[in-house]
Amino acid sequence: MGNVLWRGNWITRARIASGLILFTYGLFHFINIGLGLISPEWMAAFQDARQAVTRTLVGGVILHGALLTHALLALYGLASRRTLRMPVWNLLQFGFGLLIPVFLIGHVVHTRLAHELYGLNDEMSYISVLIWNTPDGWLQSLLLLLVWTHGCIGLHFWLRLKPWWRRMTPYLIGVAALVPAFALAGFMTEGRRMQAAFADPAARAEAMAAFNWPDMATFAALIRMARIGFWIFLALLALAMIVHFGRRIVRRRRSVRIRYVDGPEVSSPRGLTLLEMSRLHGVPHTALCGGRGRCTTCRVVIEAGAEHMHPPDPAEARSLQAVNAAPGTRLACQIRPVDPATVFRVFLPDGRRGRAHASQGQERRLAILFLDMRGFTARTTGQLPYDVVFLLNRFFDAIVPPILAAGGSVDKYLGDGLLAVFETADEASSARAALRAAAGLSAALADFNARLAEEGVPPIHIGAGLHLGELVLGEIGAAGNAPRTIIGDTVNTASRLEGKTKELGVELLVSQTVLDSAGVKTDSLDLITLELRGVGAPLAALAMPSGQELTVFLTAAAAA
Ligand code: FES
Repeated sequence: MGNVLWRGNWITRARIASGLILFTYGLFHFINIGLGLISPEWMAAFQDARQAVTRTLVGGVILHGALLTHALLALYGLASRRTLRMPVWNLLQFGFGLLIPVFLIGHVVHTRLAHELYGLNDEMSYISVLIWNTPDGWLQSLLLLLVWTHGCIGLHFWLRLKPWWRRMTPYLIGVAALVPAFALAGFMTEGRRMQAAFADPAARAEAMAAFNWPDMATFAALIRMARIGFWIFLALLALAMIVHFGRRIVRRRRSVRIRYVDGPEVSSPRGLTLLEMSRLHGVPHTALCGGRGRCTTCRVVIEAGAEHMHPPDPAEARSLQAVNAAPGTRLACQIRPVDPATVFRVFLPDGRRGRAHASQGQERRLAILFLDMRGFTARTTGQLPYDVVFLLNRFFDAIVPPILAAGGSVDKYLGDGLLAVFETADEASSARAALRAAAGLSAALADFNARLAEEGVPPIHIGAGLHLGELVLGEIGAAGNAPRTIIGDTVNTASRLEGKTKELGVELLVSQTVLDSAGVKTDSLDLITLELRGVGAPLAALAMPSGQELTVFLTAAAAA
């Protein structure tokens, strides 16, 4: 799942990589400004440390390359967008991104460029006193907020599907508010301090000499350069807008009809992606990654007209393959229908709050237990169905409480078996809960069998597989009737382990992953290596005739 973050074409990846570089730069820059709140010496020392990286040849190329790449990709994005309709967060990020150069060009010209061309000592103190109490001071403060908000939105929408990011979001919101507040407080403090220092003519002369303060001609040259930069940016922006609207006009001449299986029929300009067509006509269309080809939630099944559709590019094909998409499935954000088509939206937002969120699933790394009663068919053949139901319920009544007591829950009952999941705070506690549950249910089964023996009923034997790995937890089913369930390769592996217990004549197979995660030392254990059908690599596991023996390991893990 790691490279899911880098899914998409090279433009998407270049935008993410350059954005990350700029975000990192911005974060340290803002912390640097904030240090003015604490000490001017710290502020200067931190700036020297930053510039020891950013003002080397490599650092400069990376930083300015990222800046140029990010800005040009934004303009390219504007020119190539089929529609300017987009969700609010997208619009905010996009709009802020286009505003940033308007204020940033002057900042760069009066600091880095002035340093390179005129030997200006562009310390934070210099820029603070230069713009403090002027309209530029307000505009640069606005720039700080634009950059930070733009970066935070970008980072959030890049990482929001990762569970660890969702867990940390409440804390990160605090950090996101703190950083600009700290920076602005530092700017105010340093601006005031420098302004007070400049009131003393001797101190002012000394500071100006230390900064190599530009003369009027140099200032005029810098202002000219900033203006030229500003006009160049405006010209590029205008060019992007002309291309954007020019293409729209050309496209409008030819339109294509799209019929949504359960929705309207629309006539859209050719050249738009199907997702853009949906947005243009207000047709609800799930698109968690915002149409960047990185999530597959916009997918549609083309029910008619697929033969006229261009084939998937490698990135789309990879995404579809990753979700095992049915034939005829395409990503709405990647296809541009040019002929009439009938499409079925796989994820149909039904308008209920929370439905879209629950439908997307949640990725967790957890332990699960797959359990099955041995010899159920032979045992129940010839019995009345009511008796079978009675036996099964007594069996589950006996073994489920230890699962619940250990912190697990039954994901689903599978006739004479069950699948339990241990949804605890982290991987280690999940593994330990699963081991506790296995030990507890084995003991409970022994008690239950003793009661059966008193009734003259043969004992029940079980097989269980314990494994831990990536799972997706989500509501799966029709809207309004979608139970929460777990899916993923981990379930398949646990099921195969359970199947192997029959072959090996043991009650329980615990994968090494569970033992490692629970903190059980496996060096001295007699692990066996299993080849499991449908599981890519051989799996090391501990075979146990009875789950009750697990209490030994649990005690050792607790002591470790
Ligand atoms: S792949 Fe995410 S919206 Fe299309």
